Amino acid sequence: MGKLRLAVLASGRGSNLQAIIDAIAAGELDAEIAVVISDKGDAQALERARKHQIPHRFLDPREYSAAGAYDRALVALWQEYQVDLVVLAGYMRLLGSEAVRAYRNRILNIHPSLLPAFPGLNAQAQALAYGVRYSGCTVHFVDEGMDTGPIILQAVVPVKDDDAAETLAARILEEEHRLYPQAIQLFAEGRLEVVGRRVRIREK
Ligand code: GAR
Repeated sequence: MGKLRLAVLASGRGSNLQAIIDAIAAGELDAEIAVVISDKGDAQALERARKHQIPHRFLDPREYSAAGAYDRALVALWQEYQVDLVVLAGYMRLLGSEAVRAYRNRILNIHPSLLPAFPGLNAQAQALAYGVRYSGCTVHFVDEGMDTGPIILQAVVPVKDDDAAETLAARILEEEHRLYPQAIQLFAEGRLEVVGRRVRIREK
């Protein structure tokens, strides 16, 4: 069988995309990035794709006003690039149900908190405001909800007394860069089994 083909969706900086690129280059992740897709024309993620000669597409939401049209365009791109697994990496739009249904259990997301705490935007600031002692990051399968799908891996990051949202976010990000390639590799090895809300990780 060929390598697992990824579509990476990113709206901004793309440091998680970079971590995936680097893990593949280092031989730690047995996959290839078939296409990088962004909903923002000026996303740094697209620049990174260009630099590494990875096919990349800007899909402008303003051109798809009809209900579900943007999702259908996404799915069409995934099919065009023969994508096996969709990886949301700082993708700031909620995927619609059509896309989720078309690629059920084949879409991953990373979120900068220990879900189900602090879903949605500004998770690191939410964690600080709440006063938790530990936060972290979560890789999960995507379902129709916002950051609600079955959890694959989590990493814990302690909150320091003098943390600001930026310093906490930076320490969580380091864990994200380690955790995301690891979760994708588990998928590539066919070791993830979704049983209801739980994900079983099979022994090698
Ligand atoms: C990451 O911290 C990621 O977990 C978060 O956005 C950042 C993207 O950084 N995603 C979310 O908050 C999704 N709800 P990056 O563009 O450098 O990978």
